Amino acid sequence: MTSRDDLGDVDRHASPEDALAELHVHVEGTLEPELMLELAERNHVTLPHGDVDYLLSGHEFSGLQSFLDLYYANMEVLRTAEDFSDLARGYLARAARAGITHAEFFFDPQAHVVRGVPLEDVVEGLSDAVAVSRREFGVDAAMIASIVRDHPVPDAHAMFGELMRLQAPIVALGLDSAEVGYPPSLFEDVFARARAEGLHITVHAGEEGPPEYVWQALDLLGAERIDHGIRSLEDPALVERLVEEQIPLTTCPLSNVRLHVVESLSVHPLHRMLDAGLAVTINSDDPAYFGGYVDDVFAALHDELGLTEEERKLLARNSIRAAFT
Ligand code: HPA
Ligand code: ZN
Repeated sequence: MTSRDDLGDVDRHASPEDALAELHVHVEGTLEPELMLELAERNHVTLPHGDVDYLLSGHEFSGLQSFLDLYYANMEVLRTAEDFSDLARGYLARAARAGITHAEFFFDPQAHVVRGVPLEDVVEGLSDAVAVSRREFGVDAAMIASIVRDHPVPDAHAMFGELMRLQAPIVALGLDSAEVGYPPSLFEDVFARARAEGLHITVHAGEEGPPEYVWQALDLLGAERIDHGIRSLEDPALVERLVEEQIPLTTCPLSNVRLHVVESLSVHPLHRMLDAGLAVTINSDDPAYFGGYVDDVFAALHDELGLTEEERKLLARNSIRAAFT
């Protein structure tokens, strides 16, 4: 019997020039205003920010926390397995139009469980979308459960235990949400459990947090990829380590601009990262909030940072090499 993964490999190797993976996207961050309004109506939920103009006009964020406040508030409309399936299918369809052939998306189980949504409904809805993705959208898809790091550590353990009990079809465990003050070291035991279960590990570190958090992600959590990792550039010894071990950094340039991690796209250190030999990939993070999907990110990098065709191909190759499945 041929497994889904075998088929994925065949396809990706059949046309390597066209293969492109997105490895850092939060499915809840793909909740477009149109779907948000539809789900609000379907579930009789009053939107925290009810007016459409507000939702459509784009939002000014002062930093990660101000984004997270809106991101978690808007999740209120996601209630049923069907909602989660619609959300993921919407993303996968759009990812296909962006040229994505392989997508590994995050979801935040704790953000839904605390609102009273059963974890099994979340998993069922998302995994239904993943199951049809290859056939319907031509995108090989996989799910990464992410710990919400500013929730109590015991909640992370409980969530992980529940995912294992449900035999959730996840390929990796991640760590996201408010970074500063919530170092990776807090979660050493949960990630040890995940590694023992044979899961891959990817950790948000060095977005707003210091290089020390990236070291901890590598040394204490066994991270195989670092999500963002842009502040690693402040520590030459860390850059050396990341280059030496070719640890992928899943960067999100539009997110970096919108969350003021960099001042503008024209001063984004992407060229510097590539020149240093870092295994950089390009991603959208939360495309409904940050101004676009991966095709939009590449277009912006071309226009505002002078990204060359050669660099684009290197970034695409890096993305395929960094994929877990
Ligand atoms: N950083 C941390 N947590 C997140 C993000 C992000 O950019 N997006 C969604 N959760
Ligand atoms: Zn992220």
